[in-house]
Amino acid sequence: MRIKNVTVLGAGLMGNGLAQVFAKNENLNVTLRSRKLRDDPRAPIEKNLDMLLEKNAISKEEKAGILSRISFSDDTNAAVSDADFIIECVPEIMEIKQDLFRDLEPICKRDAIFATNTSVMSITEIALKCENKERVVGTHFWNPPYLIPLVEVVKAEGTSADVMDITMDLMRDVGKKPVRCQKDVPGFIANRLQHAIWREALSIVEKGIADAATVDEALRYGPGLRWPILGILENADMIGLDLSLNIQSYIVKYLEDSHEPSKLLRDLVAKGDLGFKTGKGYQSWTPEQIEASNRRLREYLIEATKG
Ligand SMILES: NC(=O)c1ccc[n+]([C@@H]2O[C@H](COP(=O)([O-])OP(=O)(O)OC[C@H]3O[C@@H](n4cnc5c(N)ncnc54)[C@H](O)[C@@H]3O)[C@@H](O)[C@H]2O)c1
Repeated sequence: MRIKNVTVLGAGLMGNGLAQVFAKNENLNVTLRSRKLRDDPRAPIEKNLDMLLEKNAISKEEKAGILSRISFSDDTNAAVSDADFIIECVPEIMEIKQDLFRDLEPICKRDAIFATNTSVMSITEIALKCENKERVVGTHFWNPPYLIPLVEVVKAEGTSADVMDITMDLMRDVGKKPVRCQKDVPGFIANRLQHAIWREALSIVEKGIADAATVDEALRYGPGLRWPILGILENADMIGLDLSLNIQSYIVKYLEDSHEPSKLLRDLVAKGDLGFKTGKGYQSWTPEQIEASNRRLREYLIEATKG
């Protein structure tokens, strides 16, 4: 592995999680750069690690090792000058990301790779102000990044084949499941799939076919149960493409194909019903239910990804 020093820029939700991800590998030194150092910058990472420890997903020694491999800095120059791989986790604002990469070029190694953790923005556009566009690559992690294995490694127009390969290797070396996204398109792969399902789910509720809780149940106890083990295209091969074509030919004209955000969603947001944040969204939520939902997700992910 040619990457030794990894620098994470931005110590928010994703930045803290990513520092933890890279520090899992004993051969990497990780620097987490924040604009202003907290009194105890290790605290958010330690909290995540303590939960993993409590669930026997890591040992005390692993926790200590991970923490020992992370340095914290509020000095950009010092944080990036030795870095081989720099990943930004700053706010989802195009100009901030573009300017950040432009300003890094004169102060970092000539061959350092610049990765962006943007959720949806064009990697090609983020690279626009860089002189060396070959070094810029998308690495879309999912929250919580230390529990979700997927990383979409996205090729921008200028990204070199070498940078794609090194990034894919690095993601494997920190225990992730990287997938190559060969085109820099909005939503990459997994968000395009997720949003197609979201659009149909909202349409089902809007049309009165089922309520929100029923839509979630149908997915959770039906196709969702198969997905961790049987991909939807493998499933199509399993049932036969002739049958698959007959089904698609019949159903596709009935599916939602709007290019506008859902009216139901717009109306709820206008009313101030924002989901867990306000206790009411598609469904009503008590503080206990919110706490239970967050806990269930983390416990499930820890079990599903143990080892
Ligand atoms: N939260 C998620 O679920 C999620 C998932 C995947 C990708 N992402 C992407 O990751 C990136 C970071 O998201 P987050 O949820 O960690 O955000 P966050 O708000 O928790 O953290 C952003 C960090 O950037 C710092 N920052 C703010 N302005 C800055 C500037 N001008 N220069 C440098 N640093 C600055 C902030 O102090 C903060 O520590 C975004 O691009 C987001 O779209 C988020």
